[in-house]
Amino acid sequence: MPSTLTLPPVLANTVVILGTGGTIAGTAASAQDNLGYTAAQRSVADLLAGLPPSAPALAGITVEAEQVAQLDSKDMDPITWQRLVMAVARHLARPEVVAVLVTHGTDTLEETAWLLQRVLAPAKPVVLVAAMRPATSMAADGPQNLLDALAVARTAGARGVVVMLAGRVHAAGAVRKVHPYRPDAFGSGEAGPLGVVEEGVLRRFRDWPAGTPLGAGVLSGDVAGWPWVEIVTSHAGARGDAVRALVAAGVQGLVVAATGNGMVHQALEVALAQAQAAGVTVWRTTRCADGALVGPDAGPAAAMTPWQARVELMLCLLLSARGGG
Ligand code: SIN
Repeated sequence: MPSTLTLPPVLANTVVILGTGGTIAGTAASAQDNLGYTAAQRSVADLLAGLPPSAPALAGITVEAEQVAQLDSKDMDPITWQRLVMAVARHLARPEVVAVLVTHGTDTLEETAWLLQRVLAPAKPVVLVAAMRPATSMAADGPQNLLDALAVARTAGARGVVVMLAGRVHAAGAVRKVHPYRPDAFGSGEAGPLGVVEEGVLRRFRDWPAGTPLGAGVLSGDVAGWPWVEIVTSHAGARGDAVRALVAAGVQGLVVAATGNGMVHQALEVALAQAQAAGVTVWRTTRCADGALVGPDAGPAAAMTPWQARVELMLCLLLSARGGG
C-alpha cells in the first residue's frame, strides 16, 4: 500500500510590512520640527522595532519587514510602482501571509492605493499606512498608525486595498489627501471612511474593496513602455497651448480636470478635440472636491479623481497595447 505523506498545515500568521519611505520614515534635527524634516530616512525595520513589543496588535503574529524603496512619495515613479506591486503580489501568494502593510508618503498615496487595488484586487488585506509628522517629532503619529494598520490587517474577513491614517480607514477607491498639514489628512469624499479603529478594534461602516484584478502581469516588462498620461486642468484663462505641446511631445492619454459637471474652457476644448483627432485618449473628471460627473456623457472616469483617473487610463492603455483591452 503506497504511503501518503501528510504535511503539517501552514500556520497563517505572518504579516509583511513593505517600506517605501514618506514622512512616517522622516527625520528632523529637533523633536519640535514638523516642517523642516527629510522624508524617507528610517528603514521600515527601524519603524517596526520602535513599536512596543507588548502591543496587542503584535501578539501571536510574525512580522517581516522588507524595504522596497526609500523615497518622498512626491517622487513616486513607474519603476518603484512596478517593484512594489510585484513585492505585494509575491507576499500575498505565500500561504502563511495573512496581510501586507505598505508604509508610504501621504502625498501620492491615493495613486498607489488605486494602482494596487486595480491590479491586484487582493482577497487578503493590503493596508497602506502613513504619517503626517516625522518619526522624530514629539507628536509622531506613525507608531499609532502602524499599530492601527496591524489591527485592520488582522480583522477577520478583511480584504482589498485600504488606507490607515489618524484612526480612520479609507477604501482605495475613495481615499484622497484633503489637508496639507493636519494629522487626519485623508478623506473619502461623499462615500465616507470605510471604518474607524478604536483601541485596536475596527468599527466598519462599509464593505471591503472588491473587484476583478487586472493581474500583476499587466505591469511586467520595461516600464519605459508604460503609456504617457498627463492631467490638464480647465480654469479661467485656460489656453490650448499646453495640450498642443503635450501632443507634439507624444502624450498618449489626457485626463481633464474639468470645471463643475465636466465643463472645459473653449480654448482648451478646441485643443482637446485636436488631440483626440490625433489619436490621444481624452477622459474627463471634475476638479470639484466631491461628487461625480452626472449625465449620459459622463464617461469612464466620471466618479474618479483626476489622479485616480490618470492611473486608470494608463492601465487601460497598457492593457489595450498588450491586446487585452
Ligand atoms: C511623502 O509623501 O513622502 C512626504 C509627505 C508625507 O508623507 O506626508
